[in-house]
Amino acid sequence: MHKLEIRELTKRFAGVAAIDGLSIAIEAGRITSVIGPNGSGKSTLVNVLSGLLSIDGGAVTIGANPPLKKIKPCKVPSYGITRTFQEVRLFEQMTVLDNILVVLTERNLWGAFFERHKAHHMKQAGEALNRTGLWGRRDDLAVNLSYGQRKLLEVARALAMCATGQAGIILFDEPFAGLFPQMVKTVSAIIKELRDSGFTVVLIEHNMDLIRELSDHVIVMDSGRLLAEGGAQEVLKRRDVADAYLGE
Ligand SMILES: Nc1ncnc2c1ncn2[C@@H]1O[C@H](COP(=O)(O)OP(=O)(O)O)[C@@H](O)[C@H]1O
Ligand SMILES: [Mg+2]
Repeated sequence: MHKLEIRELTKRFAGVAAIDGLSIAIEAGRITSVIGPNGSGKSTLVNVLSGLLSIDGGAVTIGANPPLKKIKPCKVPSYGITRTFQEVRLFEQMTVLDNILVVLTERNLWGAFFERHKAHHMKQAGEALNRTGLWGRRDDLAVNLSYGQRKLLEVARALAMCATGQAGIILFDEPFAGLFPQMVKTVSAIIKELRDSGFTVVLIEHNMDLIRELSDHVIVMDSGRLLAEGGAQEVLKRRDVADAYLGE
């Protein structure tokens, strides 16, 4: 199953530990939220898990794989991991539809640019665009989307990856930040649907109402370490958790 086991994980930048001996387990088929003040290491954790940053210490076990001390970016799709970025990353000069189709190919990314897409890829892309309300914008260039639509396109891309069966773990780095209320509803419904269909969701989010609404389990990070974990209600009323945010 798509479980994540993080053991004594350390990631340093110029000698400073952004993640500092973190040991956590992320259960399959649940929404695990990662919260904590700015700079506590949340995005760094997601960047390590998606192979963008190397591991300086410790190991990560993804599903049935042996513990990994290196997560190679090219292997990440085969581990069943997909993600969205806090700062949206799109192919700006490609259409909305093509931004989805490039990730659906079974070949490498460069091959994808030249591939004539199969009917099932078109169907998966269409469904993801419908679900996020972007179908009407499918022929527009990504660069011409509004901020919120750009974030929705990232969510659509992750959704399409899930639909192919390639991804079982989805890492959402602040997917709600800057969204209008209607878009927040759409994305929170999508996240719940993914969980209900058995996907493992890791959610980084600042809005505590959304954390309460969506989380099956909450992990609180502070200075790259585990400060607290448990159910949302229980964790959010802790004094030390509130104190961690005071320094922001
Ligand atoms: N690429 C990087 N280079 C240097 N320092 C970084 C880099 N990414 C993050 N950091 C530092 O690591 C710490 C954790 O950052 P980050 O993971 O982005 O926190 P969060 O997402 O919780 O706000 C911060 O002190 C940040 O400045
Ligand atoms: Mg961050």
